Amino acid sequence: MSKKSQTLVVFYTPRYEQSSTKVLLDFFMKELETNGSEDVVTLDLLKDVPDFFTAERVAAYGKRNYGGQTLSPEEAKTMQTMDRMLEQFMAADKVVLAYPMYNFSMPALVKAYMDSILQKGKTFDYNETGQVGLMKGKKALVINTSAGIYTDELQNNWMDHSTTLAKYLFKYMGFAEAVSVSAGGMSQSPELKQQSLAQAKQELERIAGTW
Ligand SMILES: Cc1cc2nc3c(=O)[nH]c(=O)nc-3n(C[C@H](O)[C@H](O)[C@H](O)COP(=O)(O)O)c2cc1C
Repeated sequence: MSKKSQTLVVFYTPRYEQSSTKVLLDFFMKELETNGSEDVVTLDLLKDVPDFFTAERVAAYGKRNYGGQTLSPEEAKTMQTMDRMLEQFMAADKVVLAYPMYNFSMPALVKAYMDSILQKGKTFDYNETGQVGLMKGKKALVINTSAGIYTDELQNNWMDHSTTLAKYLFKYMGFAEAVSVSAGGMSQSPELKQQSLAQAKQELERIAGTW
């Protein structure tokens, strides 16, 4: 029997049962469960909180990942959580990242997570031709909700630094595919919210079918 592929689900939904983002994530997970093709590993960024790049961590990261030097036990310890999250990330074949838009970008804990797993020599590197992603053949799905609606038609897509950044970072790490499903209009009218969530669910159903 062939081994199931592994999907890592990373999420930040501080409003849990009130969260629209969680509604979409739960829907996608149910679809995956129905397909039965995946081993699912979850990471709740509010329960297992990623570290920030403090002065000590920036120094240790530079020394090891750019300088090629061995870290002291103390320096290695300061990188422990970042490295653990990196290892979990690298073990996955596919990644789902779910979070709401905060201040036109990703919430700080989600950015801290991305800072943890974007490690030179591990998920990306440089060679004679320039930057290369090392996460070849993997795919990512970003699930996002927001109060505003950001679309080509409204010509305000440029304000969305949330899904655009996440997709770019996955591509930077060499992911073959990085797509996003967004539901906007979450705090305007209940009708608009339901319509937007229903549309996002349709997209998620389609993506789950070929996941
Ligand atoms: C701190 C904070 C900042 C927010 N910033 C934005 C924003 O810049 N643009 C936007 O459209 N919505 C913004 N929102 C609204 C949320 O993105 C929106 O309500 C989202 O659906 C909440 O997701 P949740 O239901 O999963 O918690 C913000 C909400 C919070 C709490």
